[in-house]
Amino acid sequence: MSSLIGGPFTDREIGARLARERTMLIDHQVQYWPVFLLQSDDFAGCAGLRPYKNDGRIFEMGVHLKPSYQGQGLAQEAARAVIDFAFKTLQVRGLFVGHHPKNAASRRLIGRLGFSFTHEEFYAPTGANHLSYLLMNPGCPETL
Ligand SMILES: CC(C)(COP(=O)(O)OP(=O)(O)OC[C@H]1O[C@@H](n2cnc3c(N)ncnc32)[C@H](O)[C@@H]1OP(=O)(O)O)[C@@H](O)C(=O)NCCC(=O)NCCS
Repeated sequence: MSSLIGGPFTDREIGARLARERTMLIDHQVQYWPVFLLQSDDFAGCAGLRPYKNDGRIFEMGVHLKPSYQGQGLAQEAARAVIDFAFKTLQVRGLFVGHHPKNAASRRLIGRLGFSFTHEEFYAPTGANHLSYLLMNPGCPETL
C-alpha cells in the first residue's frame, strides 16, 4: 500500500497485521473488512474500524483501495457502510480519522463524508504530523 502510510510491507509485517485484525474482531467486533465489487467479486481494498486510543466509544475509521479502484466513488461507498455500521449497530459516540498531510485524496474523501477537523497529531509510522478529524454520531444520546 501507499508509502504515505508506511508500506510496502514485508510478508512478516503482513502476517502480523492479519493476526491483529483477527484479534480485533474477537475483542471488539470490528476490523478492516475486505471490499469486493458486487459485479465481479474483485478484491478492491479494505475499509473498517479499530479502537481509538483507550476511549471505548470512539473508533478510528480507515479506507484503503488498490490504485486501480480509486477515483470511482468506491471509497465513499465503503466508508458510508462502515459509518452506518458504527453508528447504528455498534452505537459508537463518534469516529476519528487521520491522514498524512500530503494525502489529498484522503482529505477530499474525509470532507465529503462530513468529518470536522480537530487537530494535528504526530504519527510515528510516517514521522509526520497527520491531520485529525471527528464525526459524531447524531443518534447517540451523549452527543445530543
Ligand atoms: C484515500 C482513498 C481511500 C480515496 O479513494 P477515492 O477513490 O479517491 O475516494 P472516493 O471513493 O471518494 O472517490 C472520489 C473520486 O472519484 C470520482 N468519481 C468518479 N466516479 C464517481 C462516482 N460514480 N461516484 C462518486 N465519485 C466518483 C470523484 O470525482 C472523486 O474524484 P476527486 O477526488 O478527484 O474529486 C484512496 O486514495 C486510497 O486508498 N489511498 C491509499 C490509502 C490511503 O491513503 N488511505 C487513507 C488513509 S486514512
